[in-house]
Amino acid sequence: MSLDAVLEKLDSDLPAATDRLMALLRIQSVSTDPAYKAECDRAADWLVADLESIGVSAEKRPTPGHPMVVGHVDGPGPHLLFYGHYDVQPVDPIELWDRDPFDPAIEDTEAGQVIRGRGASDDKGQLMTFIEACRAWKAVHGSLPCKITFFLEGEEESGSPSLVPFMKANADELKADIALICDTGLFESRVPAITTMLRGLLGEDFTITGPSRDLHSGMYGGIAMNPIRVLSKIITGLHDETGRITLPGFYDGVPEMSDEILSQWQGLGFDHEKFLGDVGLKEPAGEQDRMPLEMIWSRPTCDVNGIWGGYTGAGFKTVLPSKASAKISFRLVGTQDPDAIRKAFRAYLEDNLPPGFTVEYRTDKGAPASQMSIEDPAFEKARQALSDEWPDTAAYIGCGGSIPIAGYFKTITGMDSMLIGFGKDDDQIHSPNEKYDMESFHKGMRSWARVLAALIA
Ligand code: BES
Ligand code: MN
Ligand code: MN
Repeated sequence: MSLDAVLEKLDSDLPAATDRLMALLRIQSVSTDPAYKAECDRAADWLVADLESIGVSAEKRPTPGHPMVVGHVDGPGPHLLFYGHYDVQPVDPIELWDRDPFDPAIEDTEAGQVIRGRGASDDKGQLMTFIEACRAWKAVHGSLPCKITFFLEGEEESGSPSLVPFMKANADELKADIALICDTGLFESRVPAITTMLRGLLGEDFTITGPSRDLHSGMYGGIAMNPIRVLSKIITGLHDETGRITLPGFYDGVPEMSDEILSQWQGLGFDHEKFLGDVGLKEPAGEQDRMPLEMIWSRPTCDVNGIWGGYTGAGFKTVLPSKASAKISFRLVGTQDPDAIRKAFRAYLEDNLPPGFTVEYRTDKGAPASQMSIEDPAFEKARQALSDEWPDTAAYIGCGGSIPIAGYFKTITGMDSMLIGFGKDDDQIHSPNEKYDMESFHKGMRSWARVLAALIA
């Protein structure tokens, strides 16, 4: 059967596919840091050339930020759009890497071979699984399986500032029957999965200022209010002792999962003790009356991502600082409104500032959560195709992370998204020593070949 020939081609081409991924991983496409602008450009050029090599007419399309890569290939229906991102997270703390993050290598580990390097799992390895499946299809059949649009972004890791304007300006060109997004993971590193729920994200980055300059803490301590003390109290007050977030109206739009969904999640047998144990923890920190999977998939959060102020250098300095700063983010679910939550947060913060204190915000937009409808028969077809490739039956799962484009595909182009990815929980994405298992890469491309075969059937 012709799918078997494609799968065999993927098996025999694995070394060459790995070399191609390694070449892409050597490009230092860190999107947040302007110092890497030329490298982001180079990654886009590399992808344009690679897509052209499989007969896709592809272009690097400028934006005010990093370029998008858009490619089209004509063919019979259905019309699929594939999305991935070629930008990567910064590498720091660089001293915790065991090798140069941009000099990738294949390593043998107890759990099998891994491809080590920044972006191996998030998202270069993942996006190449789809391109490799297409390459093998073309080699076997002489053309791609159907009409496909490729849409590869270079700003995902820096909040996608150019994405919405670009999608609005090119909505007709980016409209397909369904979007396939490869930027998520397997369930518990093992069970293939289609992610149907993504949390939204809202960030607040701010500085509060009390005294007009840093003060001697002997001369002023006791009479002058310390902004770090004020900030600490504000942060502490965001959660109550049961783990609930205290902002008024915060839970508006947070839905209760149906009994059907909850029992399906129960059936997944999530081992939260192992999940936490693998990172040195013991107890779930969320709302105490919720099951652990709910805490990650269907409940909103508030986390302090960074906090700074005062003297942090060597030795001791008896300073009473003028300023204190923090970056706080909220993961959102259901129909929680990022703008309303920003307002509630700012009102709470400003209510808790002592007289004379000021606050300055440096913040950009937020993105709401998204929920995929799985009514389109494409979902069951893809689920069957994934189940054929992996030892376990594929599951519909939630995801604690955020991929705002899934929501934009719906609101801007009216298209549903299907999120399929092969990352594992221990891939260390965004962290030192990021890796992608060779198994994820190999079975990932085989999975896409099967999904493509199922979707055109
Ligand atoms: N690929 C991730 C999203 C993800 C995380 C999927 C964990 C599956 C498991 C994506 O690149 C990412 O990091 N998203 C950011 C949001 C973005 C706006 C910076 C996130 O979730 O923090
Ligand atoms: Mn990603
Ligand atoms: Mn990421």
